[in-house]
Amino acid sequence: MLEKIGLPNYQTISKADPIVLRCIAELRDRLADKNEFVFYEIGVGIGATTQAVAKLMDNLGQIYLFSRDKDVQELTRDLAGLGYTNVNSDWGSPPGVFAGYHFQLAMGFVEKKLPMFDLVYVDGGHIFHLDAPAACILKELCKPGGYMLFDDWGWSMAKSPSRNPDVRPQTLKEYDPQQIKVAHVKLVCNAIMDPDTRFQFHGLESGTAIYQRKA
Ligand SMILES: C[S@@+](CC[C@H](N)C(=O)[O-])C[C@H]1O[C@@H](n2cnc3c(N)ncnc32)[C@H](O)[C@@H]1O
Repeated sequence: MLEKIGLPNYQTISKADPIVLRCIAELRDRLADKNEFVFYEIGVGIGATTQAVAKLMDNLGQIYLFSRDKDVQELTRDLAGLGYTNVNSDWGSPPGVFAGYHFQLAMGFVEKKLPMFDLVYVDGGHIFHLDAPAACILKELCKPGGYMLFDDWGWSMAKSPSRNPDVRPQTLKEYDPQQIKVAHVKLVCNAIMDPDTRFQFHGLESGTAIYQRKA
């Protein structure tokens, strides 16, 4: 999978997110034992951010990946090949249309199998029906002082070069006009994150919404 980084068809998902890397560096600096650090990534793409995170963490602490299972397994193998063995690949999702990380997160949470995390990078489907339940569960798994980052806050299907109805007529069958127009991640933030007084909104940076759980 990592061999795709930088190829022409993968330019938009070939760069590691700099806000993720900065928050990890900041949070790890405060830890006496870096082995306690837990990172979740929701949506792995081709592993650009995961690879950079793995390098930064240098096998100290744990990386939990939530994405389609075939991608989680391939990326975990690639990272192991580079010597990064601190990846938990137990939480990949099956390929079903309505399957996804929201469901694995809920199952892991109710079964008490998921650890509290220091930082989550939410960069999956950017669709309300996936990311709203995911955010609800993730809020409960965030350590005090930990961060929740939501990528693509302003993204909408209408603006998307690949999802807008002009290039993908199926979008009109799957979503109503309001759902196509609205920015789903922003709606998740407004409906799920902003009313929760346990979390402080630090603002938007390069389209990423930054929330921190109060200590
Ligand atoms: C934008 S890419 C992630 C890029 C990556 N975070 C990075 O920074 O390198 C979005 C990812 O979300 C995954 N995704 C979208 N919908 C999903 C679903 N229902 N279940 C699991 N993964 C999903 C896609 O397969 C893709 O891997």
